[in-house]
Amino acid sequence: MISNRKIFITGGAGFIGSTLVGRLVEDNEIVIYDNFSRNALKDKPFHNHRNLKQIQGDVLDFDSLKQAMQGAEYVIHCAAIAGIDTVIKSPVTTMRVNMIGSANTLEVAASLHKCERVVCFSTSEVFGQYGFRSKELDSTVMGKVGETRWTYAVSKLAEEHLAISYHKEKGLRTTVVRPFNIYGPGQVGEGALRKFIQLALNDEPIEIHGDGTQIRAWCYVDDMVDGVLMALTHPNAVGESFNIGNSRAVTTIFGLANTVVRILRSRSQILFSRKDYADVELRVPSVEKSRKLLGFEAKVDLDEGILRTADFYRKYPSEHSLTIALTPRRPRQAHPEPSASGLHRSRGNLVG
Ligand SMILES: NC(=O)c1ccc[n+]([C@@H]2O[C@H](COP(=O)([O-])OP(=O)(O)OC[C@H]3O[C@@H](n4cnc5c(N)ncnc54)[C@H](O)[C@@H]3O)[C@@H](O)[C@H]2O)c1
Repeated sequence: MISNRKIFITGGAGFIGSTLVGRLVEDNEIVIYDNFSRNALKDKPFHNHRNLKQIQGDVLDFDSLKQAMQGAEYVIHCAAIAGIDTVIKSPVTTMRVNMIGSANTLEVAASLHKCERVVCFSTSEVFGQYGFRSKELDSTVMGKVGETRWTYAVSKLAEEHLAISYHKEKGLRTTVVRPFNIYGPGQVGEGALRKFIQLALNDEPIEIHGDGTQIRAWCYVDDMVDGVLMALTHPNAVGESFNIGNSRAVTTIFGLANTVVRILRSRSQILFSRKDYADVELRVPSVEKSRKLLGFEAKVDLDEGILRTADFYRKYPSEHSLTIALTPRRPRQAHPEPSASGLHRSRGNLVG
């Protein structure tokens, strides 16, 4: 485990960033830089830790970012616009934050006196609508122009190319991680599993967009953090991209909803509504490269991860009730049918 280092985390108040803070803060000096458009950190017991400094700032503000990052030995760049609802509402901000914010972060990191490593967050979305056992060197897919969802993947792909190019051209020790559908305690944005769990705990109907056959691999956040820390410290990681996911925790969305209901002994009904956006139908990673080069192995299976996540939302029901508020009670239905009001509800993010 890394210790006695100064670690700078953009987006450190977010879901994954704040989980990383929890793992590192006892033994390191942590600076988080976040505009606090989301804030999972405030619920964490360590949010006032003596080793943690919180700076409110925007990654689009180069000068402020530069000032904040001074003295950092390790940089973890989590800040981004993520979550399909947010992306579809604000594609311009998505592209600006994810591309220009990442360019700023890399440029400042390259100017630091001693920067041991920069870890950048890409996404499994770069594999497009169908990805089975996707490997890091498989071709990436950008989707058609004008389909707003793909602005996220394109912006993340630009970040990824830039990160690897900074290594090749300027010798900056960069590494890229591609998370595959991360879930767990404290998820703040959209998130299908978070939403299903919260609804199931309240015996509220669980709504699935489309016929529920979309396939995903679900990775518990502690496993993701393990992968990031390996990417941060392992000598083999420099100049490389890594899939981080749980290739054993694979299920359809309908299967996922049923699993949540079964494990939490919920009385929630499962309903279907029209899907009005481009979606990823199949996404399962190959984690062979992460296993071989980093020694990464996801450890938390889906049932256990759901139980641990549910414990968190039982403990903090009100602070995290946004998604429930977005899903009104409606007549129940057993079969997929179009729903006009579905156009206005949260999509329950399957972005990853
Ligand atoms: N959670 C997943 O399943 C998943 C999957 C693939 C990729 N990722 C990537 O992992 C990273 C972390 O994801 P997360 O789930 O923790 O997301 P999150 O939304 O919880 O965290 C992102 C953080 O960035 C901050 N932020 C947004 N815009 C900013 C700006 N302009 N300046 C400074 N801070 C800003 C937000 O306030 C938030 O705290 C992101 O880069 C995301 O794209 C996540």
